Amino acid sequence: MNPEFTRVAEAIRLACKDEPLCAYIYDLQALERHAAGLDASLPDNCELFYAVKANSDLPILQTLAPHIQGFEVASGGELAWVRNHFPNAPIIFGGPGKLDTELAAALELGVELLHAESLGELRRLAWLARSADRQADILLRINLALDDVPTTTLTMGGRATQFGMDPSQLPECLTWLAQHPEIRLHGFHFHLMSHQLDANVHLALLARYFRQARQWREQFGLAVNHINVGGGIGINYREPDRQFDWPAFSTGFATLIKSENMADWRIRFEMGRYMTAACGYYVMQVLDIKQCFGHHFVVGRGGTHHFRTPYAQGHSHPFFILPQERWPYPFPRPEVKQARVTVVGQLCTPKDILASDAPVERVRVGDLLLFPYAGAYAWHISHHDFLRHPHPQHIYLSAQEPAHAASQ
Ligand SMILES: Cc1ncc(COP(=O)(O)O)c(C=O)c1O
Repeated sequence: MNPEFTRVAEAIRLACKDEPLCAYIYDLQALERHAAGLDASLPDNCELFYAVKANSDLPILQTLAPHIQGFEVASGGELAWVRNHFPNAPIIFGGPGKLDTELAAALELGVELLHAESLGELRRLAWLARSADRQADILLRINLALDDVPTTTLTMGGRATQFGMDPSQLPECLTWLAQHPEIRLHGFHFHLMSHQLDANVHLALLARYFRQARQWREQFGLAVNHINVGGGIGINYREPDRQFDWPAFSTGFATLIKSENMADWRIRFEMGRYMTAACGYYVMQVLDIKQCFGHHFVVGRGGTHHFRTPYAQGHSHPFFILPQERWPYPFPRPEVKQARVTVVGQLCTPKDILASDAPVERVRVGDLLLFPYAGAYAWHISHHDFLRHPHPQHIYLSAQEPAHAASQ
């Protein structure tokens, strides 16, 4: 068992009380190591930002802050949250459908770069900037044809979507920008896909961005040197032993910067899932085991209202069984051995499934199920108050021993 897992198991042991357990555990020490490693492996002209939407819990942001260059926010709520807790951190602001109040707050709170999604948004921004007597610094978010770069299961571009601008609108947009000095263009933003599991395909995607940005700079004679390549690096939930090969990616990336003549550009990542997924665990205690039409169902405390990731991504989430010996009842303990099971939660919907057709050696009522890779797009994308079940505990394991863990 790896040492990180031992720390998590020990925290769970301490959290187990009389009630069946349901909790999120975040290993902040592991998160810190991971973020520091990512940052150190990137070339000098690259910056690592964190896409706060993946997990905006304060202990997560505080752990990341020393190891990243700033935060990417996608709403006025995220902007206020980050600025409130990190008065001096660089913030960048993207996403479609920004309100006037959000654009005004971005100007007021010193957002470093706004990622503009359309000419309509730019017109409103210019109007707001003029009336506040400020200048706005922007990147244009562009949706590109992908040519022959393979797509993933979650693509935001390369086809018709609501994200970014169609490149055919760029000339009109640049003409308009030339007449509006209250908006300063610094470069381009691309986030065309998430869930990337293949380092070589990701390099091919970034090469596509680089060539396009360079070509536009030359074609339109632009004084820009900034490119945001988005996030998008995925977690392999289906085959956890085959994760994205970051060492191969970072080596290939340094080579790509040279071969594509990108040394004079500022290249920025805004990563979400790959940054925080691995530090988080969701744990549920088994409440019931039943058979129906020849299938075994394991019912845990909690469900997709806490941990929507498997349903949102359409996968069967991997899990470990942590056997528990406590059995207070005067009747036999239900169990299932050497079988395939469906793990469900407490909701009154057949969609409340966390794992399906999962092989188990033995699982008993009262055992704990531990779901790894639950630190990103997990609690924060879930419909917490459906059925008004209590929220799970949130336990943050700091660099100290688990006994010092902060609970929320
Ligand atoms: C504009 C933008 N940037 C960054 C991200 C983070 O992506 P990921 O979590 O795949 O790294 C997202 C996610 O949706 C996004 O929309």
